[in-house]
Amino acid sequence: MTGNELRNAYLEFFRSKDHLVLPSYSLIPENDPSLLLIGAGMAPFKPFFTGKMKPLHPRIVTSQKCIRTGDIENVGRTARHHTFFEMLGNFSFGDYFKREAIAWAWEFLTDKRYLNLPADKLWVTIYTDDDEAHGIWLNDIKVPAERIIRMEDNFWEIGTGPCGPCSEIYVDLGEHRGCGSADCKVGCDCDRYLEIWNLVFTQFDRDEAGEYTPLAKKNIDTGAGLERIASVLQNKPSNFETDLLYPLIEYAAKAASVEYGKSDKTDVSLKVVADHGRSMVVMIGDGVLPSNEGRGYVLRRILRRAVRHGRLMGMEKPFLVPLVDVVIGILGAAYPDLAVKRDYIKTIIGLEEERFRLTLSQGMELLGTLIADLQEAGKDVLPGEDAFKLYDTFGFPWELTREILAENGISLEQEGFERAMNEQRERARAARSDNNDNGAM
Ligand code: SER
Repeated sequence: MTGNELRNAYLEFFRSKDHLVLPSYSLIPENDPSLLLIGAGMAPFKPFFTGKMKPLHPRIVTSQKCIRTGDIENVGRTARHHTFFEMLGNFSFGDYFKREAIAWAWEFLTDKRYLNLPADKLWVTIYTDDDEAHGIWLNDIKVPAERIIRMEDNFWEIGTGPCGPCSEIYVDLGEHRGCGSADCKVGCDCDRYLEIWNLVFTQFDRDEAGEYTPLAKKNIDTGAGLERIASVLQNKPSNFETDLLYPLIEYAAKAASVEYGKSDKTDVSLKVVADHGRSMVVMIGDGVLPSNEGRGYVLRRILRRAVRHGRLMGMEKPFLVPLVDVVIGILGAAYPDLAVKRDYIKTIIGLEEERFRLTLSQGMELLGTLIADLQEAGKDVLPGEDAFKLYDTFGFPWELTREILAENGISLEQEGFERAMNEQRERARAARSDNNDNGAM
């Protein structure tokens, strides 16, 4: 099953369970200051869960574009981390609850008319004291008790708003995919047990003070990773070999004249370029522009990381613009607006790449000198002001500085960096109020 077929099969399955199929929402949240970017299928639906707004239909299904950068440094280093991914989600707003959500997830995954995954390879987790979910998994679905694990951290929330205990479904990909540790089990960081679906039993509303108020109506919020399930169905060692990402790896490998699967180092860089390529195209398609603040900075950082990983593979010339066509080739069927905005996306990416390249060489050179000086002096911490100068003068993302330092066994003096950053913010604020100019960056 291709990624596109899987997305459609999921939407159609839930349409047959009386769900309204909606297109993905934009990555830019509407009226939700608690979020910079949409990072979960449920995020656009918060007012429906809390009862502030009424949905068109009490059951909705989507495949939602998501950006998450909390794990950006893991991207390319594991089989499953991404900055951009699609989350398949079926939602109940005060309608069905645990029993149906669990039964339908199981049916879609294991029934031979749908994904036909072997039931004996699936494990589930539940919130520590969720006896109701335990009973459903054990008695209705007939999952053996030893494959139902109670976990304290099975509680899901994002920013403020609706949240609740959750139950996750994992696939055991086999011992050969594991870390080999005697302790390796569901929840282990290695690649053996892959979480493919999270069923959240949305019962609470979390406010800014961290208080949890029970919701008047109980809801269901589920999230299944499209790329992860595709990797299982397509029997690939990671998401990056699925048809949702591999064409990007092929493009980058060709552009860099390297071969995928030959060295860990270049493989990580190829995966970073593939992942970040999708993110930047979709973000710009949704109206994000590179800047030094907020979601614009998330985009800038992603784009600059991609350029840097290209350079690590020896790509001295710009290479990001042709990537746009490859991304649209993969995602264009699901998100037709991307093709309409093709030239616009290319222009933004081309300009930003060029701009960054002009300063990157200088920044790299300066950082190289700083590292050499530290090493010569036998020191392993870079003063925060030096990192700030790189950021401020050369537009060198400080996270990049930190990563390059870490590769050389050096850490960044974070406090000094933050102090310099705050001082600069103060100066900028003062300058803005002097000029009465709200648009300054
Ligand atoms: N909101 C949950 C998650 O993101 C399930 O959709 O995992």
